[in-house]
Order: sequence, then C-alpha cells, then structure tokens
Amino acid sequence: MNKDFLSIADAGTELEDWIDAAIALKREYKEGRAGTPLAGKAMGMIFEKPSLRTRVSFELGMHQLGGHALYLSPNEIQVGKREAVKDVANVMSRFVDVIMYRAFSNDIMVELAGHAPVPVINALDDLEHPCQAMADLMTVKEWKGRLGGLKLAWIGDGNNVCNSLLLACAYTGMHMVAAVPEGLEPDQGILAKANEVAAASGGSINIIGDLREAVVDADIIATDTWVSMGEESGRDEKLRAFDGFTVNDDLTSLAKDDFMFIHCLPAHRGEEVTDEVIDSSHSAILDEAENRLHAQKEIIRRLLLK
Ligand code: CP
Ligand code: NVA
Repeated sequence: MNKDFLSIADAGTELEDWIDAAIALKREYKEGRAGTPLAGKAMGMIFEKPSLRTRVSFELGMHQLGGHALYLSPNEIQVGKREAVKDVANVMSRFVDVIMYRAFSNDIMVELAGHAPVPVINALDDLEHPCQAMADLMTVKEWKGRLGGLKLAWIGDGNNVCNSLLLACAYTGMHMVAAVPEGLEPDQGILAKANEVAAASGGSINIIGDLREAVVDADIIATDTWVSMGEESGRDEKLRAFDGFTVNDDLTSLAKDDFMFIHCLPAHRGEEVTDEVIDSSHSAILDEAENRLHAQKEIIRRLLLK
C-alpha cells in the first residue's frame, strides 16, 4: 500500500474493502464499541481553502480514534510562499504522525507528500477529492447494498470531485456516465486511467454532452458546484457554460424510480440543483456528509496502523 492517500488510485482495487471497513467502523462507533487505536498520535491539518465538512470530520475523526488534530488556517503556513514546500513537509513531520492537506495545486500536494516522511492525505486539490469519493460510494453502498453494476450519472463540471468519482466507479465496477459542457471535460490522465481500470473491473466510463441521455435509468445522480473554490473570477463564463444543466424533477424523472441523489456540498441551490431534488427523499446529502467522518477514520487508520 502507498504511504499516502493522494488519489483514489492509492486505494485502487482495495477501495471497496476500505468502504466495507468504514461501514463497519461507523456501526461500531454508533453502538459504542469503537476503540481508540490512535491514542498519542497527532494530525496536522493544512487548509489553503475554506471548509465545513472536511475540517469538522477530520478533527472529530482523529478525536474519536483517540488522537489529536491541529487546525492550520489558510493564513498560517502558506505552503511554498512563506516557506519552501520541502521545509514545511519536513518540519511538520517532526511534530505530527500524519498530514491532511487541502491545497490549490495537485503539483504542490505531490511535492509535499514526496518530501514528508509521514503519510499525507489529500483533502481536496484542483485534481481530486478522494476522501469525498470514498464517502460517496460508502453512502451508495449503504443505500443500495452493492456497487458493481450500478449506473452513476454525473451532471456538471469535469472537476476534482468528478475526477475522483471516475476512478472510484472504475475500481468498483460501476458504470459512470458524465454529462459535461464542451471544454469542461474531466482530466485526460484520470480518464485514461479510469478507462483502463474499468476495462478490468467490468465497469465503464462515458463522457457525453447530453444530460438527458446520461440520466436514463441511472441508479445515482451526482452533481457539484459549477464554480469551484479558486475559480471565482471566471464565474460568469462558467454560469453561461452550464445553462440548462440544473438537476431538477424533469431531469430526474428519467432515472430509475429509486434513484438516489448525491452532492458533496456546499450546494448552490437553484444553480446546479433545485430545492425539490436536494430536499427530496431521494437525496442522500446528509448521510454523505456524515460518512466523511467514518470514511476518513478508516483512511487514517490504514495509513497509520499498517
Ligand atoms: N464536501 C466538502 O469537502 O466540504 P467542505 O468544503 O465544507 O469541507
Ligand atoms: N468542486 C468543489 C468541491 C468543494 C467541496 C471545489 O473544489 O470547490
């Protein structure tokens, strides 16, 4: 197993085992049977962008495992600006047992992990959001009882969350169809990897322009904000590109009757999704947010107790 969790590919073909273990961990926690295997361990959480779910779930997750988490806000470390990436990685590693990093750039994520002797967890960058994708498929498994063979329709931007879901669906034998506007397709390297993995797992990956076609017979409909953190200056142009891409009742009527809706949050109600969909009984958004906690505890446990 890799030292770090920077990409869904770092869990690879073990991803579904990790998800099953996270589901078991959640049950143990709810039944008051969970232990504190990380007593005495510390995590440094470096944030270059805002957060609700990621901060709360990592900090509480580390506490529930018996360890300690230290929050470092965007104003503090300033990786690569106030101090060289290499120096941040090595100094932090003298204090903590694991680093969680929310970054602007995947290049800097990889550089930091390359220098840090301790494991690094990607808590979102411009390429991936692997903790989110693991929590998302954990939620799908809880709701549907399986992953292999299910159809997930992604409606929206070919962004970090989409990239991680492409890999996660590929490794678990799911069929992912992403409807994205022209020019906003997922990363080409991720697509090539996802296609290669899906060919071996029995899953499939398709990128199309027609959102109605994508949603037909879908088991899961997923979307995300049209304007990711750091892209605010291009907001008007992106809003124009997404004209007609709102997930609403008209669109979801094409999916299976028991489809589930997922969204990593924060949502922009009325833009990528309507209230009628996100507040419906099909919506799994709160389970998804809660599952960040348990999925990440499993990730931390695997990296530190291997
Ligand atoms: N989904 C997610 O990562 O949320 P935050 O940005 O609030 O952490
Ligand atoms: N794609 C979004 C996800 C937020 C959790 C972003 O990067 O801002």
